[in-house]
Amino acid sequence: MEITLAVLKPHVCRNTYALQQIKALISSNFNILEAKEVRITKELSERFYAEHKGKFFYNRLTTFMHSGPCYALILQSEACIQKWRHLMGPTKVFRAVYSEPDCIRALYGLSDTRNACHGSDSEASALREIAILFPEFKINKTCEQT
Ligand code: CMP
Repeated sequence: MEITLAVLKPHVCRNTYALQQIKALISSNFNILEAKEVRITKELSERFYAEHKGKFFYNRLTTFMHSGPCYALILQSEACIQKWRHLMGPTKVFRAVYSEPDCIRALYGLSDTRNACHGSDSEASALREIAILFPEFKINKTCEQT
């Protein structure tokens, strides 16, 4: 089975109702291998979003991600990466609202930066991002194949 990294962004973590709803949705769709509240430092956030360095939103995004605690989870299921990305919906909130009004970003996103949640976009990204936020987590073959 596949694994992925999910991150609930700071404004969601400040909203008890949103946090509860999203956690319930996650529990009913995935095995949760790890979950923790995490304070992402500016340095960690810059490493995490390194591929976006130089883009106009990079500073805004990395500053926002360390503005308060996030909630990070390692999820496991069949086709986990796509499944979580589908539940999140489009990156841009205005697109989410118009095309998939029930997705997480349409319901809880506030802007393209504060778009409620993050999900890895590939297996390679999942491994890289998990290593950043869960350095103690050992990815073994049983975890990916069970
Ligand atoms: P996320 O899934 O965390 O991964 C990269 C993030 O970059 C994305 O969600 C958005 O928050 C942010 N992002 C991508 N495109 C834009 C944009 N055009 N304007 C502002 N933020 C963006």
